[in-house]
Amino acid sequence: MSDEYTTLIEQIRHHDRLYYEHDAPEITDGQYDALLNRLRALEAANPALIRADSPTQKVGGRVADGFAKSVHGVPMLSLGNAFAPEDFAEFCARIRRFLALEDTALRFIAEPKIDGLSVNLLYENGRFIRGATRGDGTAGEDITHNLLTLPDLPRRLAAPCPARIEIRGEVFMTRADFLAFRATQEAALAEREARRARGEKLGSAVQVPVNARNAAAGSLRQLDAAITAARPLKLFAYAMGEGSETPAATHGEWLDVLRRWGFRVNPLSTALDEAEAPDFQSRIAAERAGLDYEIDGVVYKLDRLDWQARLGFAGREPRWAIAWKFPAEQATTRLLAIGIQGGRTGALTPRAVMEPVFVGGVTVTHATLHNEDEIARKEVRIGDTVVLQRAGDVIPQIIGPVLEKRPADAQPFVFPTLCPACGSHAVRAGDDVVRRCTGGLICPAQTVERLKHFVSRRAMDIEGFGEERIELLHARGWLLAPADIFTLHERRAELEALEGWGRLSVTKLLDAIATARMPPLERFIFALGIRRIGEQNAKLLARHYHSLAEWRVKMEAARIIGSEAREELGVIQGIGPAIAQELVDFFDEQRNVAALDALCAHVAPADAPVADAVSALAGKTIVFTGTLEKLSRQEAEARAESLGAKVTKSVSKKTDIVVVGADAGSKAAKAAELGVQVATEAEFRAMAGLV
Ligand code: IVH
Repeated sequence: MSDEYTTLIEQIRHHDRLYYEHDAPEITDGQYDALLNRLRALEAANPALIRADSPTQKVGGRVADGFAKSVHGVPMLSLGNAFAPEDFAEFCARIRRFLALEDTALRFIAEPKIDGLSVNLLYENGRFIRGATRGDGTAGEDITHNLLTLPDLPRRLAAPCPARIEIRGEVFMTRADFLAFRATQEAALAEREARRARGEKLGSAVQVPVNARNAAAGSLRQLDAAITAARPLKLFAYAMGEGSETPAATHGEWLDVLRRWGFRVNPLSTALDEAEAPDFQSRIAAERAGLDYEIDGVVYKLDRLDWQARLGFAGREPRWAIAWKFPAEQATTRLLAIGIQGGRTGALTPRAVMEPVFVGGVTVTHATLHNEDEIARKEVRIGDTVVLQRAGDVIPQIIGPVLEKRPADAQPFVFPTLCPACGSHAVRAGDDVVRRCTGGLICPAQTVERLKHFVSRRAMDIEGFGEERIELLHARGWLLAPADIFTLHERRAELEALEGWGRLSVTKLLDAIATARMPPLERFIFALGIRRIGEQNAKLLARHYHSLAEWRVKMEAARIIGSEAREELGVIQGIGPAIAQELVDFFDEQRNVAALDALCAHVAPADAPVADAVSALAGKTIVFTGTLEKLSRQEAEARAESLGAKVTKSVSKKTDIVVVGADAGSKAAKAAELGVQVATEAEFRAMAGLV
């Protein structure tokens, strides 16, 4: 297929450029779709030959935006938060438990947490090859051309350096640069408005950034690198991603290596013992206002890299680092109204509407009030002046009313007992603080929220479906269930006729939909929006069942209490009884099954990869029993799972290995009885590659 395949890719790229960059298409949409469909057909017939740079492989819309997708060598994850000394102490205690350390004091490197944009920089044989944004953590946008304009970015790394290494850091704008930049943008905007008033030609749009972070983000995501070059961007390096070798034994040494290679490393980065952290935190908080860049906390990273490697990650967060955030910024404003928002699981959340106020770097008009008990506890009334708080990327919160300023006509809020969207009863079950709409699948608010979740970045990742668009398409009756997304192309003409849509954006959207048909299984399961099945649980399910077909068969079977499938579900590490019940409830509802069937006519999720087959533990079912000496139980289990093993709690015929520690009880006996392989802790460590 290769000749036709290569030619097709080139043709499609050529037409993409004409269409998106030059706005001068040479072929009709129908002809373009025919090319793309032919390419998809070839790829479906020869999946092994699919090129990473094929137009079908670009995540929706990003081709159109002009940025290619760039997959990170190892994922770029986030950080857990601490807000108080107790949180930090608990973090240290967790590390000690995991590593089975007694009273050893932990050594950390503390680094100010820069409020910018994280980037991943790939170097091969000392040369800068590629740079990308964080994106969804797994893949970001290739912004190499823009990063090359940064004076802080070393093009070459002096030897010795690993053959291949990813370096991570934060791109930011200093406060002074931001203020100057904002002033020029404001002037440009005023000039543009004046031209508009005179009826003159306008030229390109002008954006006035609200804060330094947005200014840095906007500057990095420019198609024209000349624009980025003119923006005053800086880069602090602070971490390593993938590497063919690790050029240091501690994080502190690693920062030295980065300095030697010519990276800017935050000069406030400091090595300290855990007991010194609270003082350091206060010191940096005091210096914060005087710094020339925005920070929102301090990141504490365990200094020893071998310990970092053993600790690994829990979900999306490393166990060896934490972001200790500064207290949130506060402001006062007036509470104008309280609205009710329906969520995808029926939860009704009160939402405050306020007079706009600038706090924590942005203008805020809405805040969550959590639930009706919170409103009662805080005693806020409509018309009150309220204290509002916002920290970093967290949703703004109302702290409480300023009672001295309460007007005589301030109104207490009465929580509705009927769902404002569908009129169904809204009830609180047992001691649930949340009032929920009982309308289920008939409630339009729930449907719309489920659709928003379905297309969201971490789920099906279909770009071009803003919240308003979903609401509009739903209101028109064109989008009532997720499966309808995949027949939207039949309404192309109607979509293009909608105000503010147009051919270009409809093409982008339909393209994004077409490329979303083969999501990884875990993202598909997450997208279904089953209660309690967040990203982490979806991943556990995908890893355990591997294929959509297998998962569905087993879920249907698990509806029967006492069935083998139910038992299997019960022993997946991390899936407790409450989660299992939610899955069973979901599959008990025929309308859910019908919606899933409808979806499966259009979507073919990719099977979850079988973990590292070279490991002796891959695919094995393991039970740990007794006390391990050198490893905590948690570390042993995490390690086994990362090597592709299934960790279960009880010994059965299906168990492959029982790892027996000190004082093992009946499980060791059961293993012997069933003839299951028994391993000592040392043997397990050998199998798991732990020395
Ligand atoms: S380390 C797994 N160090 O904070 C380690 N992150 O919430 C992850 N950030 O996406 C990153 N300054 O954008 C690290 N000195 C620092 C940082 C830092 C800012 C940002 C970064 C990351 C986010 C995590």
